[in-house]
Amino acid sequence: MASLTVRQLDERLKKLLRLRAAKSGRSVEDEVRTILRAAAEDTGSEAPETGNPPSQPPRRPASAPAGAKRVLLIVGGGIAAYKSLDLIRRLKERGLAVRCILTKAAEHFVTPLSAAAIVGERIFTDLFDASSEFDVGHIRLARETDLIVVAPATADLMAKMAGGLAPDLATAVLLAAGTKILLAPAMNPYMWANKATQRNLAQLVADGVALIGPGEGEMAEAGERGTGRMAEPLEIAAAVERLLASETAQPLKGTCVLVTSGPTHEPIDPVRYIANRSSGKQGHAIAAAAARAGAAVTLVSGPVNLPDPPGVAVVHVETAREMLQAVERALPVDVAIFAAAVADWRVASASEQKIKKKAGRATPELSLTENPDILSTVAHRKSQRPQLVIGFAAETENVAANAKAKLASKGCDWILANDVSPSTGIMGGDRNTIELVTATAIEPWPPQSKEDVAKMLVARVANALAK
Ligand code: C5P
Repeated sequence: MASLTVRQLDERLKKLLRLRAAKSGRSVEDEVRTILRAAAEDTGSEAPETGNPPSQPPRRPASAPAGAKRVLLIVGGGIAAYKSLDLIRRLKERGLAVRCILTKAAEHFVTPLSAAAIVGERIFTDLFDASSEFDVGHIRLARETDLIVVAPATADLMAKMAGGLAPDLATAVLLAAGTKILLAPAMNPYMWANKATQRNLAQLVADGVALIGPGEGEMAEAGERGTGRMAEPLEIAAAVERLLASETAQPLKGTCVLVTSGPTHEPIDPVRYIANRSSGKQGHAIAAAAARAGAAVTLVSGPVNLPDPPGVAVVHVETAREMLQAVERALPVDVAIFAAAVADWRVASASEQKIKKKAGRATPELSLTENPDILSTVAHRKSQRPQLVIGFAAETENVAANAKAKLASKGCDWILANDVSPSTGIMGGDRNTIELVTATAIEPWPPQSKEDVAKMLVARVANALAK
């Protein structure tokens, strides 16, 4: 029987073949074998012998429903890569359409064939593989997805991402990505704790990358324990579902939201100031959640040790009076959320020079004067009052009762009340327990992370605006 190579076909036919192969996720050679086999079956003959078995298994009947969300899984080279096969299965169980890239290092732990068998279509490995670049190409791989998951995210991959390097297919796709990226870091605890890794991590978080894990536990190296274990596939799949839900739902699209956050610093003299323990974590989480929900967000922040949330216009201020000025400049907005812990008082006349301690001289007396109440000022505005004005009430006793009174005196629509007694660890901590106080009800929320409080608040705001 005469032999026929793809190269001998005319250009038009070759192009058609390539397109067909790209659509079905097969190499051109495998596509030819599939066509020949189908033709043989149609004529009732035995399937022809077409040489080597396909290098990648044929595409399985699509398990992802039409319109399914698309996840691109990038498997980095670490011992945790073996869990990526289970992760693919978990993602597919959730009706997600999965594509997979293996880095060269990952191929030491997982073979393209085993990954392809579970994905049900070809695996991508090379930036300079002519057929895959023709079929799909790294830019399309980066664009034709709703979420990119990097699991395991090795220290090396994170460093390349943080530095914007793109020496291979995985990093080129990450650099070209326009969608959310979820990292599941996995590495030895010493590598995780290394200053360079932590620097890269901070950069990636500031760039808006989401994280799951790493957790604590036994390491592959005998006898080693610590932080660096990759999150379990089920945890990663749950994070993927959460992210996809929040990425698609943009209930605040078209609205303007103003958030205040952090403490204020009130000068005593050029080097000393009055401050409080607010970290800004809650206010910043609210600004980030509102931005993710599609709002145009202005965050007026006092001095904090937090990165600016991605996608948010941040105005940095120091004093309460500066904060009020920045807030008024940001109006009009649809929603204003006052999460800042504004100093109630400032020194009536701060010294222009450093106050000196001199032997025999009396201790200086600080005369205080009241700061403007920003929340109350905005809530009582005759013009440009936001549709929804929300305050916080940090209390140490009679939380709900005090918040209810505050709602009336400040003239706001909702108050998020929380107990900031030192024993709760809320001030400066990562978790919060809220009671939502409105004119008609007091609704206790479960103890949760400040991020989850932010998401819950954003969902409530979206609901209220939709009414
Ligand atoms: O009166 P109190 O400080 O408990 O009120 C808390 C609420 O009022 C918070 O929402 C806070 O951001 C806001 N506030 C303000 N300006 C002030 C004091 C408090 O916006 N000067």
